[in-house]
Amino acid sequence: MRTIMVMNAKGGCGKTTLATNIATFYADDGQNVVIADFDPQGSSIDWLTAREDYTGIPEISGIEAWHKPLNVPDSTDLIVMDVPAGIHGKDIDKALAQVQTLVVPVLPSAIDIRAAARFLKELKASGRVCEKRTRIGLVANRVRENTHVFHELENFLKKSKIPCVATLRESQTYIRSAETGLGLYELPPSSARVDVDQWESLMRWMNSKRSMPR
Ligand SMILES: Nc1ncnc2c1ncn2[C@@H]1O[C@H](COP(=O)(O)OP(=O)(O)O)[C@@H](O)[C@H]1O
Ligand SMILES: [Mg+2]
Repeated sequence: MRTIMVMNAKGGCGKTTLATNIATFYADDGQNVVIADFDPQGSSIDWLTAREDYTGIPEISGIEAWHKPLNVPDSTDLIVMDVPAGIHGKDIDKALAQVQTLVVPVLPSAIDIRAAARFLKELKASGRVCEKRTRIGLVANRVRENTHVFHELENFLKKSKIPCVATLRESQTYIRSAETGLGLYELPPSSARVDVDQWESLMRWMNSKRSMPR
């Protein structure tokens, strides 16, 4: 069973957006996927509820992990964990205990970059990360190319020594995905094509040994 976590101490950077879309990518591929929502806001669970309006798409299970134990069926191939903002210190170590792959979305804004710097420092100090038992990929999210702040983010990500595994544009596709409970792979290809292309590098990394524990 594989475990992928999406985490950043900063709110609103795209954790739920990435968690739900990673889940659909693998569910569409025929895997048994569970989303464990650790955020009492329950946005991933709400997204799964919206998804129930559709037929003919793969089922994804959800666990309200903020108040229920993480018991999943043996047949589960993948658990995608959506973690709330505001996580620090020992709670980071605790959260990473079972995690093989960690995805950290970062927004191009001065406040988000500064917060990410502090968060990455904490991550790098975690035993799981030092021992490469949890592998981290950074994702630049809601990017508008050719803006000063995007170049600032690029510079920051380069210096961080953690691989930046995807750059995702600011796009209505993610707004539609959030509304409908569909993944970007399940939306009409005509509108989501650019975004699907941008996900290719993320999923290539996700499917490579570089995202798996040593
Ligand atoms: N690349 C993107 N383009 C446009 N909107 C986005 C993008 N990523 C996230 N959003 C939107 O930004 C808001 C915050 O994203 P969300 O995934 O809920 O963040 P978090 O879970 O980190 O708080 C949501 O309304 C979401 O639809
Ligand atoms: Mg969220």
